Amino acid sequence: MNVQGKTILITGGASGIGLEAAKQFLAIGAKVIVTGRNQAKLDAAKKANPAIITIQSDIANKEDAKFLFNKVKELGGIDILYNNAAVLVPPSNLGIANDTHTDGAAYEMEVNYLGVVRLNNIFMDMLKSRKEAAIINTTSILSQSPSLLEATYSSSKTALAFYTISLREHLKIIGSNVKIFELIPPLVATEMTAERKDKKISVEEMVKGLIAGLRKEHYTIRVGDAKLFNVINRFFPKMAYKLINPKKSYQLLKN
Ligand SMILES: NC(=O)c1ccc[n+]([C@@H]2O[C@H](COP(=O)([O-])OP(=O)(O)OC[C@H]3O[C@@H](n4cnc5c(N)ncnc54)[C@H](OP(=O)(O)O)[C@@H]3O)[C@@H](O)[C@H]2O)c1
Repeated sequence: MNVQGKTILITGGASGIGLEAAKQFLAIGAKVIVTGRNQAKLDAAKKANPAIITIQSDIANKEDAKFLFNKVKELGGIDILYNNAAVLVPPSNLGIANDTHTDGAAYEMEVNYLGVVRLNNIFMDMLKSRKEAAIINTTSILSQSPSLLEATYSSSKTALAFYTISLREHLKIIGSNVKIFELIPPLVATEMTAERKDKKISVEEMVKGLIAGLRKEHYTIRVGDAKLFNVINRFFPKMAYKLINPKKSYQLLKN
């Protein structure tokens, strides 16, 4: 798919992978609109990259989603909806098997899963009306194998991964031109993973992989180690589970 000349809406595009994607999409000739909850972060992104259009909008909020749609319509609409925003709410040291984490788990589902479904539905007719259109949903290798320490985040991404496959097939059956991509990043160095000491790739490398996948129309875009992880998970799921949940995770849960 050719991105040049397209208008892309990136949710959560004021920092992390989303901001880097905004920069790289601008550099290859796309028009970019980014959203986020925090106005100061949006202002900083705009100051550093004046060509970016920013709109404050929380994807967990129904009214914000309608407001965002109307603003985007006023700006001439979009060709690509890139669902990047997500939250990870770490459980307290009591873990997940108690009532301290219920609100955190609900918020993860509201942002990471329902927020994406809502935006896709609101923008679907607009996307269908474009000559070439796409939706990119961002899942994770944790949607393929469960994480013990990030159990509810991992589950929210599995919900999104299953929905993404169904949406793609559904649109094919009804003959729609909207292409559905699933982006599966490996561990990437951003604010979300700041506490993690494991091997991470840079946001630059991550987004290069995304753009290459879009160009080749690989509907499931696995970047870096996410490719190897997929092979291991397919043939040796127990080994994949151990890679996600090393012994130190068990120790942390016991403490
Ligand atoms: N980093 C990794 O290793 C990794 C691995 C696999 C998958 N992913 C996925 O890749 C995507 C980007 O991750 P990242 O590492 O760049 O995360 P990040 O650094 O935490 O950035 C997330 C962005 O989303 C925005 N956001 C959060 N909640 C939002 C909401 N309710 N409405 C609108 N915007 C919201 C945040 O801005 P505000 O706070 O201003 O709202 C922020 O700009 C996520 O879907 C994540 O799950 C990341």
